[in-house]
Amino acid sequence: MTTTPDVTELESTLLAEVTAADSLEALEAVRVSVLGRKGRITEQMKGLGGLEGEARKAAGQSLNRVKDNVTAAISAHQLDLEAAALEARLAGETTDVTLPVRPRPHGRIHPVSQAMEECIAIFGEMGFAVAEGPDIEDDFHNFTALNIPPEHPARQMHDTFYLPERDDGSRLVLRTHTSPVQIRTMENSKPPIRVIAPGRTYRSDSDATHTPMFHQIEALVVDETTHMGHLKGCIIDFCRAFFGIPDLPVRFRPSHFPFTEPSMEVDIGCSRAGGELRIGNFGDGADNWLEIMGSGMVHPKVLEYGGIDPAKYQGFAFGMGIDRIAMLKYGIADLRTFFDADLRWLSHYGFAPLAVPSMVRGL
Ligand code: PHE
Repeated sequence: MTTTPDVTELESTLLAEVTAADSLEALEAVRVSVLGRKGRITEQMKGLGGLEGEARKAAGQSLNRVKDNVTAAISAHQLDLEAAALEARLAGETTDVTLPVRPRPHGRIHPVSQAMEECIAIFGEMGFAVAEGPDIEDDFHNFTALNIPPEHPARQMHDTFYLPERDDGSRLVLRTHTSPVQIRTMENSKPPIRVIAPGRTYRSDSDATHTPMFHQIEALVVDETTHMGHLKGCIIDFCRAFFGIPDLPVRFRPSHFPFTEPSMEVDIGCSRAGGELRIGNFGDGADNWLEIMGSGMVHPKVLEYGGIDPAKYQGFAFGMGIDRIAMLKYGIADLRTFFDADLRWLSHYGFAPLAVPSMVRGL
């Protein structure tokens, strides 16, 4: 090569090719064809070897300028193409936030669990701790220690489920009430005692208000000066808090349980007007009472069986059916539906998990 290359024309040709590249791939092809090992500028550079002195210097300078300009143009165009590609991708991948979410199934809290939680929260506020005992009990804890000796008619009244006879002739039972937890608590702790025992209980019984398995909550307080005023105040406060009715009438009616003396059944005010049962204060109508629990001062013999000196300590106890108070509070007519495991029923009568008012005041 002996002449100075016409770089002006070369430059405009190359710049036009750069501008015309409409994709990053096309631009890369242009770059290789210009600056690659066999590219057009590279080839021209090699041709400089045939020039002499000043001419070679001048040609080299102008070629280098063209190279710089084309390189700059490629970089600038590359940025534009990259921005355009990103725009296109973002436009293609937009999320339509107006699309409704697909409903997801939520679990519901069973009314029995809900009622149990509410009871625990109320008694927790009063300073009670939760105690537990086994569902399968021995005769001593379910009966004898509760002052129900073998020939006592209460044993028949309880419709007990017995397990098969053991080698020593004794039979374990499915506990017929939560009262055996009273004995177990006394055996395992010293007064002052202030516990509640929620749990499953079993009796061979089945109709609209009885199921073979049901739930009770038991309370036991033992201290040196515990008296019936404490029992009454505690039960009245509980009933009013649980049903959310500040002036709910509560009545104590003399009764009999082998493990308490004196014993009282507890009734709450209600109305049966129009054949509909409603809990509350409806004035002084004669028969508008509903029995909801058994209660009494712990029998001295029971304290003794529990290893507590009845000359020094006294206490009160009460027990009630959780399923029953749940039916009353939530307006559920048939107890058996609690245990049908029907999801439609549960989604209607169940509670949203966040609605469990555990440990909050003012239920
Ligand atoms: N255990 C009794 C029942 O199941 C209830 C009760 C408990 C009564 C504590 C008095 C004291 O019916």
